[in-house]
Parts: sequence; C-alpha cells; structure tokens
Amino acid sequence: MIEMKVISKRFGKVDPLSIDSYIKHDGYKGLEKAISNHPSHIIDEVEKSKIRGRGGAGFPTYIKVRALSKEAGKKYIVCNADEGEPGNFKDRMIMENDPHSVIEGMIIMAYATGAEQGYIYIRGEYQIAMNIMKETIKQAKDKGFLGKNIFNKGFNFEIEIRSGAGSYVCGEEFSLIESIEGKPGRSRTKPPFPTEKGIHNLPTLINNVETFANFPYIITIGGDKFAQIGTNSSTGTKLISLSGNVKKKGLYEVPFGTSIRDVIFKLGKGVKDDRKIKMVQLGGASGPIIPEYMLDMSIDFDRFENFDSKTGTGAIIVIDDRFDIFDILLTNMKFFVHQSCGKCAPCREGHIQIVNLLNKFINHRATEKDLMSLENLANVIQQTSLCGLGQTSMTSIISSLRYFRDDYFAKVRY
Ligand SMILES: Cc1cc2nc3c(=O)[nH]c(=O)nc-3n(C[C@H](O)[C@H](O)[C@H](O)COP(=O)(O)O)c2cc1C
Ligand code: SF4
Repeated sequence: MIEMKVISKRFGKVDPLSIDSYIKHDGYKGLEKAISNHPSHIIDEVEKSKIRGRGGAGFPTYIKVRALSKEAGKKYIVCNADEGEPGNFKDRMIMENDPHSVIEGMIIMAYATGAEQGYIYIRGEYQIAMNIMKETIKQAKDKGFLGKNIFNKGFNFEIEIRSGAGSYVCGEEFSLIESIEGKPGRSRTKPPFPTEKGIHNLPTLINNVETFANFPYIITIGGDKFAQIGTNSSTGTKLISLSGNVKKKGLYEVPFGTSIRDVIFKLGKGVKDDRKIKMVQLGGASGPIIPEYMLDMSIDFDRFENFDSKTGTGAIIVIDDRFDIFDILLTNMKFFVHQSCGKCAPCREGHIQIVNLLNKFINHRATEKDLMSLENLANVIQQTSLCGLGQTSMTSIISSLRYFRDDYFAKVRY
C-alpha cells in the first residue's frame, strides 16, 4: 500500500461538526503538548521536522515561523485557504473533513510566535467549508482553546474568517494581505516579506491549510521522527488531488518520494478506457506539462524546483492521447488573461499576446518566427512580472516547448 494517512487519517471517521469527536480521535493532543513546553521548543521541533510549505513553492516553514517569533508587538497569523489553482481540492477536503486540525495548527503557531490574531482566508466559492470553519472556531472558543488566557497560560488568540474575493491572484500572499485589509487584491513588491510587513504593515505569518494541519502531528511525534517520513529534502506526506482521465479520481495522501506513476496507476487505477497518457500537468494551470516517459519522477520539492512553478501543491492532472496540447495551453492562458490583476504590463499585455500566438498555431497560420516569439515572450513574462502569477503562469508553455516541440512544428506553416 503506497498511501500513508497522516493529514487525512480522520477523514470519514470524525464528525467535522463535533469538537468532542475530534478530541476522541486524539484531537488537540498536539496543542496540549505544545503549551506544556516553551514556545522556542515548538519552533525547534518545526525546524527539526524540515517541513516545507504545502501551498506550492515549498519554502522551509521554520524560517518564516522563527522570523515572526522574533518580531515584537502586534502580529498576525493567516491560513491561506484560497485554493484557486485549477485542479486542486485538497484544502477544501481538509476543511470539510477535519477542520479542527487546521485550527489546532494555527493555535500551536500562535503560541510559538506570540501572535494574538489569526485569519483564515477562504475561497469565496467554498461556502460549505466556510460554514464548517465558522462552527469549528465557535466550538474551539467554547472549549477555551481560543480566546483569552488559553489553558491559563496568559496566552490569547482569536481567529476570524475572511471570504476570498473571487480572484485567483488573491491566493498570492501580498494580494491576500491587501484583500484582508479591504483593498483590491493586488500584489506588492518584496522585500519586505510578510513576516516583516504584512497586514497593516505588521508582521504576518502566512501558511497553507495543509501546512497548518501538519503542526499538531509534528508536535505529537516530534520533529526528528517527522523528518524520517518522505525524502531528505521533502519530509512528511503530501495530499495529492488526482484528476483528469484516470479511472479513480480523488484525494490521496502519500509520503514524499512516491512516484507520479504509482499515484496514477496504483491509486488512480490507470487511464480511463486504458488509453495512452499523452501528458500530465503537475500542480495546476501554473505547473509544468510533462510527457509519459517522465512519470517515474518522484514527488519531491527539489525535483519540482527544476520547473520554477507552484508544482508543489500536489495536483496531478492526467490527459490521454485524444487531447491536443494546444487545447490545454489555450485553456490555461485564457485563465491567466482573466485572472491578471493588471498592475504590471508583462502579465497584463503578455498573456493576451500569448493567446493570440497560440491561436495562430491552432489555425495552422503560425510560422517559425511565431515559435521564436512565443518562446521569447514566455521568458519575458516569467522574468519580469511583478508577482508569482506572471512568474509561474508560463511554466506550461515553457515545459511544452521543451517536451512537446514536435507538436508545435506539426502546426507551423512552411
Ligand atoms: C497567483 C498565486 C496564487 C496562489 N494561491 C495560493 C493558494 O490558493 N493557497 C496557498 O496556500 N498558496 C497560494 N499561493 C502561494 C502563497 O503566495 C504563499 O506562498 C503560501 O500561502 C505560503 O504558504 P506555505 O509556506 O505553507 O506554502 C499562491 C501564489 C500565487 C503566486
Ligand atoms: S504579475 Fe499579473 S497578477 Fe501579478 S501584479 Fe503583475 S499583473 Fe498583477
């Protein structure tokens, strides 16, 4: 069995609307252990665990947590539950099935860093998850896990829900901060990073839902033991949103180091109608498109870094041989035209031009010069865009030019 259930171990077993059910299944044990120790011990455990953020980029979590703990005065903790990347549904599943694990992770981090205010920024379309999280916060408050003088430790922490503003870019950390402040979701230049100047220019820690859900487990088993799961560079487990032309789509949890092929064939039971795989898109619309021969690649942040993208969200979208790569690319690029916030020219104008160029290929009107233009423009957008949207949106174009170049030549007019 290649599945390893850590984050999803309570899915289907606990009643998500009952704190007592969560407590019966070892819930809030991590928090109990955390608060019996000094806050610095929690941060040491997070460092030992070597956990990296589950929101896509795989940034080492302890660096941000330690940075926030060193800041004096008012500070914030934010759970990023915007989950706008097409092909991803893991954060929704955590919130709908085991919501207290997220709250417990946030309280542990508040205790470790000295933050007294938290926000959960939830994608506006996730109404069910939002209602569940509201009820979860209420229950945690009634039990005394949130509010004033938690566990008589003189430690205070409150959590509020903020609804996402219906825009993909609001998942990007600075756009999210602006949105929480009540402004349109637009990014800022960095540095300074959010742990120095976040919400209202005060220090802010932003982590993904899955990252927070890992903290109770890390504290319960200890950082060293956690670091033994997965690979040297990517520890723990990863939730995988498997979709596309597979027989058994769904959410699976595997240790890092598992191959993409095993996820598709052992967990997803292979391709529908036993067709051949033409390509697999990793991470979502801003992830790379890879050919079938690369499927033995393991799920690992270091391996994903080769693609400069948000591959690490864990989405795997399988596309069989009936599909044309240009249909996939065009869908992705139209999405980015729609989602660009318009603040910087490379992203605002560049995506429109990329769509025009793709249409030329689709209509067999493209020349070799267009191929060069597409490649150059994709690199310009990637290198000069202000925020992560434009810096990662070209990954599917760039990877397709690397692995599926013949598909372009087949459409060029000579
Ligand atoms: C356009 C864009 C959208 C993003 N959307 C999300 C999102 O929905 N959820 C998320 O956790 N991170 C998202 N991110 C990444 C966040 O900016 C940030 O890196 C992440 O929330 C940090 O959490 P982590 O360290 O736990 O991964 C997005 C980034 C970009 C550039
Ligand atoms: S890259 Fe796109 S989304 Fe990001 S600031 Fe520029 S225009 Fe806005």
